[in-house]
Amino acid sequence: MSKPFLHMKKINKSFNGVSVLMNVSLEVEPGEIHALLGENGAGKSTLMNILGGVFRPDEGTILIHGKAVNLFNPKASQDHGIRFIHQELNVVPDLRVYENMFLGLELRNKLGIVKVEEMCRKTSDILMKLGVDIDPKEYVRNLDTSYKQLIEIAKALLHQSRLIIMDEPTTALAEHEVERLFSLMKSLKESGVSFIYISHKLNEIKQICDSYTVLRDGELVGTGQIQHETLENITTMMVGKTISEERIVHDNNFGKVVLEVRDLTCKGLFHSINFQVKRGEIVGFTGLSGDGRTELFETLFGYRKKYTGEIKVDAKNVQLNHPQMAVKSGIGLVPKNRKENAIIKDLSVMHNMTLSSIGNVEAYGFIRENREKGKFLHYKDLLNIKVHNPNITIDKLSGGNQQKVVIAKWLEVNTNILIFDNPTQGIDVGAKLEIYHHIVSLARQGKGIIILSSEAPEILKICHHIYVMFQGEIVANLNGHQATEDEIMGYATGSIKGGEKDAYQTKT
Ligand SMILES: Nc1ncnc2c1ncn2[C@@H]1O[C@H](COP(=O)(O)OP(=O)(O)OP(=O)(O)O)[C@@H](O)[C@H]1O
Ligand SMILES: [Mg+2]
Repeated sequence: MSKPFLHMKKINKSFNGVSVLMNVSLEVEPGEIHALLGENGAGKSTLMNILGGVFRPDEGTILIHGKAVNLFNPKASQDHGIRFIHQELNVVPDLRVYENMFLGLELRNKLGIVKVEEMCRKTSDILMKLGVDIDPKEYVRNLDTSYKQLIEIAKALLHQSRLIIMDEPTTALAEHEVERLFSLMKSLKESGVSFIYISHKLNEIKQICDSYTVLRDGELVGTGQIQHETLENITTMMVGKTISEERIVHDNNFGKVVLEVRDLTCKGLFHSINFQVKRGEIVGFTGLSGDGRTELFETLFGYRKKYTGEIKVDAKNVQLNHPQMAVKSGIGLVPKNRKENAIIKDLSVMHNMTLSSIGNVEAYGFIRENREKGKFLHYKDLLNIKVHNPNITIDKLSGGNQQKVVIAKWLEVNTNILIFDNPTQGIDVGAKLEIYHHIVSLARQGKGIIILSSEAPEILKICHHIYVMFQGEIVANLNGHQATEDEIMGYATGSIKGGEKDAYQTKT
């Protein structure tokens, strides 16, 4: 039998005496897309950091084509044909595309002068192969995220990589960008390139991956072919219990209207937006990227000065020209891209969690340690946050666990209207469910909740009403109990036109 391209054998790794990988093995064949799955903190990124030469294993061997290799630094890993595309993309925004492609490996002539034209030509050749039309001399900062990712893939091709590791590549991508990435992966696979693919979006796994390996708490719990396994089984392997796909049913005892928006328009971004949210109600907004949803809610959170129309909170007109005004009016926003927007890296996990709700743990100007610790333990338990010591800095946590800390922080903020922008980005299936239940209980307490999400299943899971946006307008207002994913997609892509269907109407 032929040897697999990669065989990681019995890898062990611990940090400060805490084991995070125990006897983990992984095999990847040439031309295979292999999913690496597991809850937040299971050890996926750590295993890949070992393969990428970022961390050294404490024990274990790595074989490439059956030969033991020593991946003592990223360069050594790259020399063996392995390319690690981190979630935080490593392209340099202030350099041009071709400069990024050849960074550290500039082509020079005998006199040491860089061969710009040749580098540009080679860059163009590869980009053309990938079916992307960007000028090699364009500055990377001017490109969309998906193009930045394509540059990383182009770099992998330039260096003739045989295995590309992608750690949650689609988190920041729009739907059409995901499609582009997948078709690219498929064509590279045809030419024998292998992938290790990490994602918490299980529908993507079914769509693109051939095989899988599941880790739980640093141990291997299953590996095999995707086609032989149901997603339910894989989920059970990941979290150790079954997770219901069902809609979370919850009561509809709404109170008074807490937020009302009339004819809200911001030129070029969104227009004639009308909707209302009652106390106890969970309202979802979805659509494709560029639908104006983010801009609409940035406006409601006071980020945009110029808008026309009316915003009423508790039946009173408010002017929201500054985030402070929004907070004062009782509106809270849990931002997306929380890694960039909401984490203070040098601060402990516990302080990061209690930061914005400091009033809740403070007495006479002093932070009450017991109370702070109590809150921390409550959310650690509720959201299954994997952290051994609340006093370590937050950057030592896995990506998803950092997200959970930020979510916990916002769940504490006591505003009457709460807007969640992509609340479960980067969060594992088990904790997603806990977050949904928590949001439902906030609604039961009488808060008005708005959820922005690009994932229709998420919106369908808990929302009472669903608004679909398309090119800056609300094109559908659907009943959350009855709407279907197909229907939402139809409106979001513009293939069903607003008004054609008898949409559910809220009564004023
Ligand atoms: N540099 C570090 N120092 C200490 N502990 C670390 C370090 N890096 C990772 N860990 C710990 O190792 C464990 C595994 O983390 P890892 O990042 O591999 O998880 P993951 O499976 O990638 O999770 P996620 O889905 O959240 O990204 C976590 O408990 C994390 O806190
Ligand atoms: Mg990770």
